[in-house]
Amino acid sequence: IRAAGIIGTGSYLPDIVLTNGYFEERLDTSDEWIVSRTGIRERRKADDCIAASDMATYAALKAIEDANVAPEDIDMIIVATVTPDMLFPSTACIVQKNIGAINASAFDISAACSGFIYGLSIAEKFIKAGNAKYILVIGAEALSKITDYSDRNTCILFGDGAGAAVVAKVEESMGILAAYTGSDGRGGELLKLPAGGSRLPASCETIKNSLHFVKMDGSEVFKFAIKIMGEAAEKALEMCGLNKEDIDYLIPHQANIRIIESATKRLKIPQDKVFINIDKYGNMSAASIAVALDEANKAKKLNKGDIVVLVGFGGGLTWGAVVLKW
Ligand code: ACO
Repeated sequence: IRAAGIIGTGSYLPDIVLTNGYFEERLDTSDEWIVSRTGIRERRKADDCIAASDMATYAALKAIEDANVAPEDIDMIIVATVTPDMLFPSTACIVQKNIGAINASAFDISAACSGFIYGLSIAEKFIKAGNAKYILVIGAEALSKITDYSDRNTCILFGDGAGAAVVAKVEESMGILAAYTGSDGRGGELLKLPAGGSRLPASCETIKNSLHFVKMDGSEVFKFAIKIMGEAAEKALEMCGLNKEDIDYLIPHQANIRIIESATKRLKIPQDKVFINIDKYGNMSAASIAVALDEANKAKKLNKGDIVVLVGFGGGLTWGAVVLKW
């Protein structure tokens, strides 16, 4: 039986920092409200000339170096993003060109904040089937480009960044033990970017009505997230015959500290076994778990043989969890 696992990680965060003070000066909000309701203190913002593919490229190069492989060895590139450079070509194809991965097939996936989990799930199957040797899975978001900075309900939440992992064959019974994904399209209205696609193509009218910005029903998404984070992790553990007591480390999607705390409580994991960087970066959608994984890896929080659970939820609605034996 083949096993697929993560053999290298990388990430990139832009230099521009937007603190809560930045929003206090411009909107009817406060550092106290933002920290107590979300756990966010600051977030990063890409320069105007930087797109998702640029950040994805930097993260990919670091992951390739960490995995000790060459760009030509990569035979698939999967980019998860809701902020592609453009609708096509895919951001993955742009990354392919940038890094010189001439032997790869490349494509994007759209699963919002769950995108990196979905990407790992796809990569695992290709590696296990023997159809690929090295797959780059990237979560990259330039959410600042689709954020309405006059809407206090959303703009304080989002940040930009990218994270990447190289998935490859690993020794038996190691690596990805289970990858679970789920969706419920009935909840699509709760979180969406209405314009810019074939339903509402870009026009003066859509711009005038701010329809190229994220629209979100925060409290409904919150309720869904509280429920699904724990459920998704439990489902993935069940798939590989483990239970919540077996978790050594949890890397959750970084959307809201209260959502993370609720999942932590349900899974009965001590706080020091949960990776949290939401205070520094806010919600980076598909990039959140990817960046968190890289930071946990580089900070040596993950020990060989640890059971590590990645879990997330997002627009679609979508959700998913991956259980790894590190
Ligand atoms: N500053 C001050 N007050 C605010 C702010 C702000 N930045 N934002 C909202 N408020 C106000 C609201 O207007 C509301 O006022 P009202 O009662 O007078 O109408 C009040 O605060 C309470 O609003 P709630 O929505 O009930 O606040 P809640 O505690 O639910 O927190 C939040 C809001 C942080 C958005 C929360 O609901 C949340 O985190 N939801 C999940 C969001 C999420 O995870 N989204 C994923 C998107 S990622 C993707 O797929 C791109």
